[in-house]
Parts: sequence; C-alpha cells; structure tokens
Amino acid sequence: MNLGIPKEIVEGETRVAIVPESVGKLTGKLGHTVRIESGAGLASGFSDAEYEKEGAEVVKDAASLYSQSDVILKVQRPIDHPGLGKHELDAMKQGAMYIGFFQPLNHPELAQQAAKTGVNVIAMDQVPRITKAQRMDVLSSQTNLAGYKATLIAAESLKKIFPLMMTAAGTISPAKVIILGAGVAGLQAIATAKRLGAVVEVSDVRPAVKEQVLSLGGRYIEPPEEEKTEGEESMEDKGGYAKQASEDFIRRQQEILTEHLKDADAVITTANVPGRKAPLLITDAMLEVMQPGAVIVDMAAESGGNCSVTKANETVVVNGVSVIGVTNLPARVPYHASQLYSRNILSLIEYLTKEAVIELDLEDEIVQGALITNGGEVIHEPTKKLLG
Ligand code: NAI
Repeated sequence: MNLGIPKEIVEGETRVAIVPESVGKLTGKLGHTVRIESGAGLASGFSDAEYEKEGAEVVKDAASLYSQSDVILKVQRPIDHPGLGKHELDAMKQGAMYIGFFQPLNHPELAQQAAKTGVNVIAMDQVPRITKAQRMDVLSSQTNLAGYKATLIAAESLKKIFPLMMTAAGTISPAKVIILGAGVAGLQAIATAKRLGAVVEVSDVRPAVKEQVLSLGGRYIEPPEEEKTEGEESMEDKGGYAKQASEDFIRRQQEILTEHLKDADAVITTANVPGRKAPLLITDAMLEVMQPGAVIVDMAAESGGNCSVTKANETVVVNGVSVIGVTNLPARVPYHASQLYSRNILSLIEYLTKEAVIELDLEDEIVQGALITNGGEVIHEPTKKLLG
C-alpha cells in the first residue's frame, strides 16, 4: 500500500512518524511503498537523503501526498492544514487510513468528522496495554522519554547541582528531589535523578509501586492509611492504575508531603488518575513552606496540574519557588522520540499487514481497541458512548 508521511503541522511538534531505519522494513518484506514530504524529518535530525537511501520517495507537494496515500502516518491528530487551506482529513482520499495519536475520548467530534469524510482512523494512543501490543505502546515510549527530560529541566532550572561533590573547598551535599507519582514518567524520573546523583524521595498511592521505587534507589514516602471500599483492597484498580482518591485521603496525603517539601530542592510531579483531572497535591499553603530557589516541574500541566499555580507552558514564581508547567516533552527529544514512535508504528503495521495489504480483522483485540472509525462510521465503543 502507499504509505504517506507528511510534515507535522502542530506548533512546536518536532517529531516525525517514521524515521529512515523503519523505511526499509516497510518497503522490504512488508511490500509497502513509502512517500515522505520533503523536510518532514529535519526537525528531529533526519534528512531527505537518509529517507531516500532507505527507499522512500521524497515528495515536495503536500496536497498530492495526502490525496494519493492509502495510509497517512502522523504523530499528532489531524487539524486544519495551514498550507493546504483545508482540514487534513478533507485532504485525504475517501477510504484511506489515518494512523497517529487521535485522543478520541478528548475529541469525539473529530472521530465523527473522520467518519463523515470516510477516513478510517487507528488511534495509536488507544492500542490496548496488553502483552502482545507492548511493542506498539506509544504512550509508554513517549512518556518514558518525557520523564527523563522533565528531570533534566529540573536540574537545569535549579540554582544548585544534583550530586554530592567533595572538593578542596569543601563538600557540597546532594540535592533532594521529590517525585510525585511513580508510573511510567515517574519511574524514569527517579532513575534519571539518581543517575545525576540526587537523593530521591517518591510518593505514590499504589502499594505495588513501593518495591519498584526502592529497587531504583528511591526512598518511599508512605501514603496515608488506605480507604477500602467493599471488595477492594487498595488504591489500585484491576487494570493496575490508581483509583481516584477521596478529598479526605488527598488532604491527609498533603499533610505528609508538606513535611517532605520543606527541604526539597526540586519536585517532579507526574501524579495521574486515568480519565480524571490531575490530583491537586501541592497547594498554595504547601508552596509557602518550600525553600526559595526550589523548582517544581509539573508534567501534569495539560490535565490541570498537580500544583495549584501550574500554568501549561509557563513558569510561575511564588515565594521564590518556580513552578514550570511543561507540555509535549517528547518533542524536546525528537530524535529518540521519533525513533521509538516509528518502531511502535512499524510493529503495528507488521502485525496488520497480510501480503502487502493492511487488513483490519474486526474481531482482533488490538484492532478493536484502536480502530476508531471504519467504513464511514464511528465504531470505537467508548467514543460512541461519548457521542451518545
Ligand atoms: P501513569 O498513569 O503511568 O502514572 C501516574 C502515577 O500517578 C501512578 O503511578 C499513580 O498511582 C500515581 N498517582 C495517582 N494519584 C496519586 C496521588 N494522589 N499521589 C501520588 N501519586 C498518585 O501516568 P504516566 O504515563 O506516567 O504519565 C504521568 C503524567 O504525565 C500524566 O499526567 C501524563 O498526562 C503526563 N505526561 C506529560 C507529558 C508532557 O510532555 N508534559 C508527556 C507524557 C505524559
């Protein structure tokens, strides 16, 4: 099939859906053709020449790339294309496929629009988190890098260094870094802060996390006593995610965290409950007990923030504490973010390709989870529910 890779058009997006190393695999044994918009890989460090060397055709005209491809491979979800003067979905041919981030539960109306234009959408962010789909998990691959980058931003923004240093002029004690939330981003943040030499303390509400934190060399901040609802044992749901905590639980957690924040140098917040607004873990009053010069990097900025003053894409300074609301961190390490994303997409295409054609088996677990629209209809159950 004809696979088309356009340049990303969302402001600040530096990634590209497919990197040169994947091109040979797509065109070789899988039997697809790959066409890429000229300059699409430049912002992540991949030249047109590298794509050509691997067997891709480099195309200057974006309009023909959209209209002639059977499958469009993207990072970001489709939006109005400033160069084409129309929506990306409208620029595609009827019956073509769109594979990329889509976030249908946040943008159900976009799914409806795709169905109307006859575009079949596979949302990479909806690939189920099951063992056989691990290689396709873009949420893990991108968030892992984001946790790394958030830690570097904390280190760079702090007026101190992270490691212990013994010098002829005396000893510098290591920085104290607190990580809130030890999921994908948080675990990588712990590992990175440890590698940089900080003393790391970690708060999470799921009991299973404690062992992981300790094995990475972090100190675990015990959460408040659990609340038990009938038949359930902990703050963890059946899928392994955190459950939403009650106001009372969060208040007690804030009391515990206040003591730890008093001498913290840097805080990286990643606390998240799927489908909910981010839990508020650092209040105005808690900011007041922190040392001036301390830094908070809030990774949950886009879903409301874990800190009361967080603003997405801004640094807010309160009593000398800088609260940095970071978004789209993977785009700040675009070479490796694109490389991992490209491998995730390649794995999905390998899985779906039968004799050089991408076939959608509607009974397949992965297809059922990630296919949002098909044959002019929204077929993804959770999205359908939202659309009523
Ligand atoms: P995850 O769901 O794997 O981990 C979140 C962790 O927070 C879980 O371990 C959970 O138990 C914990 N948690 C929930 N409530 C808590 C509480 N009250 N106190 C302490 N911990 C609590 O999520 P993941 O994938 O690690 O993402 C973390 C956050 O980072 C999300 O908000 C996500 O949207 C955001 N993110 C931001 C990026 C950026 O560029 N700024 C990039 C990628 C993710």
